[in-house]
Amino acid sequence: MIYRKLGKSDVEVSAITFGAWAVGGWMWGGTDEEQSIAAIRQAIELGITTIDTAAVYGFGRSEEIVARAIEPYKRENLQILTKFGLRWDITEPAPKRWDTTDRNGNPATVSHWAKADGIIYECEQSLKRLKTDYIDVFQQHWPDPGTPIEESAVALIKLIEQGKIRAAGESNFSAELLDQISRQVPIASNQPPYSMVNRGIEDEVLPYCVENDISVIVYSPLQRGLLTGKITPDYKFNGDDHRAASPLFKGENLRRVNAFLNEIRPIAQSYGATLAQLVINWTLNRPGITAVLVGARNPQQAKENAMALQFELKETEIAEINEMLDDLEITA
Ligand SMILES: NC(=O)c1ccc[n+]([C@@H]2O[C@H](COP(=O)([O-])OP(=O)(O)OC[C@H]3O[C@@H](n4cnc5c(N)ncnc54)[C@H](OP(=O)(O)O)[C@@H]3O)[C@@H](O)[C@H]2O)c1
Repeated sequence: MIYRKLGKSDVEVSAITFGAWAVGGWMWGGTDEEQSIAAIRQAIELGITTIDTAAVYGFGRSEEIVARAIEPYKRENLQILTKFGLRWDITEPAPKRWDTTDRNGNPATVSHWAKADGIIYECEQSLKRLKTDYIDVFQQHWPDPGTPIEESAVALIKLIEQGKIRAAGESNFSAELLDQISRQVPIASNQPPYSMVNRGIEDEVLPYCVENDISVIVYSPLQRGLLTGKITPDYKFNGDDHRAASPLFKGENLRRVNAFLNEIRPIAQSYGATLAQLVINWTLNRPGITAVLVGARNPQQAKENAMALQFELKETEIAEINEMLDDLEITA
């Protein structure tokens, strides 16, 4: 495993980081808690020291599962990244909110909410659920158009001073917003989406982060399972699994992605690797990417993903993959 410092902070993370959204169950058709715990422990046994979660994942359930999973390990050897700013208990009107169902399947509304007192409150709640007395990186999950950035920054500075968080991070922030907030509080990392089939950050966000020493921890590098090659046109998703409605997982897009995966499969095979391992390896090879957040639902997936750096891609192979990607057209 490779370990890397985040921005100007002293937090060091494993380049492959365990993403704990799916293990929370919400939007992923439910969860098997014992398998989830076993997956996290398998990842840790293979050198993954960093786990990314969020309050909203499973409406607290993901953080609770992470707490149980890390019980046998020394806290100081692990880094827990969590997120605030998506609240399911806000009754006041928020400029950005959306309807969903909660961890019990009941109707719920999630609000983008990053007011100072809300951030302090959410930190306390996350600390309790995670059964820890500090969070390594506390990240704003999404921008909140209803709260000035300066106000959120005040709360983050306070939490750093109190030792409740080691560093502040952002998620889904544009270069412009990152620039605004990092004038108020040091930002260790940004967490944007990035995969072979979703490379939007290469235009602005990634160059901005590289230039300003903000680490980039990318999410959904397997494009939520699509890039493992296992999704066929008749693949069945369970319950509230959000992938069932994604245009990427259907029709012509799915056909083209699978055709591309078949073309790169021989490269994976030449290293005795799986497609998932090749995809993770390629992603971490991209200039400017600090770490990848990969989700896993069971120990087999966790093991496969954690071992994705067991081989080194040749420049010619990377160029070959990039050329094929240039020809891969995805429609929204
Ligand atoms: N900040 C944000 O807004 C945001 C948004 C999304 C994600 N994230 C973070 O990034 C993490 C990773 O992203 P993600 O979970 O969306 O997507 P991902 O890592 O691209 O895909 C994870 C999913 O793919 C399947 N999978 C994983 N490894 C596999 C393997 N080796 N073989 C076959 N299938 C495999 C599993 O689902 P199935 O077994 O059900 O197919 C797993 O839940 C999240 O857990 C979360 O921590 C952050």
